[in-house]
Amino acid sequence: MDTKKSIHGEWSSRTAFILAATGSAVGLGNIWKFPYITGENGGGAFVIVYLLCVALVGIPVMMAETLFGRRGRENPVHTMAILTKEANADEHWPYLGWMGMIAGVLILSYYSVIAGWACGYVLKAIDGSFFGVDAQGAKNLFMAFTASPLQLLFWHTGFMVATMFIVARGLSQGFEKSIHFLIPGLFLLLFLLVGYAMTTDSYFQGLHFLFNPDFSKLTGNAILVALGQAFFSLGIGMGAVMVYGAYLPKKVSITETITIIAVADTVVALLAGIAIFPIVLSNGLPLNSGPGLIFESLPIAFGNMFGGWLFGILFFVMLVFAALSSSIALIEPAVSWLVENKGMERGKACWYAGGVTWLLGFGSALSFNVGADVTVFGKTFYDLLDYLTSNLMLPIGGFCIAIFAGWMMGQAHSEAELAMAKPLHYQAWRLLIRYLATTAIFVVFLSVVGVV
Ligand code: TRP
Repeated sequence: MDTKKSIHGEWSSRTAFILAATGSAVGLGNIWKFPYITGENGGGAFVIVYLLCVALVGIPVMMAETLFGRRGRENPVHTMAILTKEANADEHWPYLGWMGMIAGVLILSYYSVIAGWACGYVLKAIDGSFFGVDAQGAKNLFMAFTASPLQLLFWHTGFMVATMFIVARGLSQGFEKSIHFLIPGLFLLLFLLVGYAMTTDSYFQGLHFLFNPDFSKLTGNAILVALGQAFFSLGIGMGAVMVYGAYLPKKVSITETITIIAVADTVVALLAGIAIFPIVLSNGLPLNSGPGLIFESLPIAFGNMFGGWLFGILFFVMLVFAALSSSIALIEPAVSWLVENKGMERGKACWYAGGVTWLLGFGSALSFNVGADVTVFGKTFYDLLDYLTSNLMLPIGGFCIAIFAGWMMGQAHSEAELAMAKPLHYQAWRLLIRYLATTAIFVVFLSVVGVV
């Protein structure tokens, strides 16, 4: 098996893999979700728990997922079947690939709705809606926009069509190239926004909120949300990284590349937080305004800064692109499964997978307006789907990946794939994946259920 090449071809270089995996990792999760759930969960203490989750659980699990992909070289269901056989493990392990596929479709269904908001905001940026806007104006703009089911469905549909168009064309070379300018561009604009945040009178208050931990605000549920967000933001726990790992050449170091990707992902999220909270605080906006947070705060910045018209357009265009590069990763496991296991032609597989995702998205789109009062356990359709996927399916997926990598897979196999320069490094990874990652996820779950 060591010499097995991917049936899909390989990344042309290490950089190509880093760019594609960063494209998958950096998305709405960093810029839209991280700030709003940090706001909802009290700031500093939540951020510290989040960082610990990324470093101690996220990175080791991401390495495991990548090494599964490279060893199996196929879609997640097939890959898990191959590895299960090699490890002589229980025949049910390939269900892990299944759960991942379903999680990807569920996540994309609402991800696309939010990406649709970003599309709608590109137009608003162009037509000057942000010009001179204040807190109330920005809020009204957002409320009027999300109150319209037709607008949300229109943009959701447009975004899904764009995603499926790219996925239908296979490993899209052109698209990967666009990440070359996308990520640096995103960094530049975030720095610009941080610069604007410095000019507000709440800059230090914002930093204080983000980095000064008040552990009394930390609930068991907040810890689960932080763990779920670590998985969501890195894009792990559902097989997307396994797919990308399948194209990874043998000689590339998994440890090095994954660390680079995880650090980049975390820096983008932190920059987004540093930019947004001072704007939120200085305009008297509530910290816990939920999914609308960046849409209600950033227009104020763009509407009042020098060159804000142009920067506003660029920012939302980049956000749409960052979302696109994550979306293709979310649906790829389902599409490649339909192609490889069901013998479907790629275009048709995209119609099926994309169609189901698109329809499901209606539930989320409507939960922001006409369906806002339809709740189960006090949660709207969107909230429920988000909770189910980010806080349950991804951590469970990650838990299973850690168990398989640490306890099922032969040590010689994971050691060969990771090929670390120092034996000590491998031992460290193995300890983290065998004991810490598994126990941490388990304990967080128990604490939410209220057992400990
Ligand atoms: N990581 C992406 C973001 O932060 C979303 C994403 C891409 C994802 N692939 C994933 C989330 C796989 C969970 C699982 O926006």
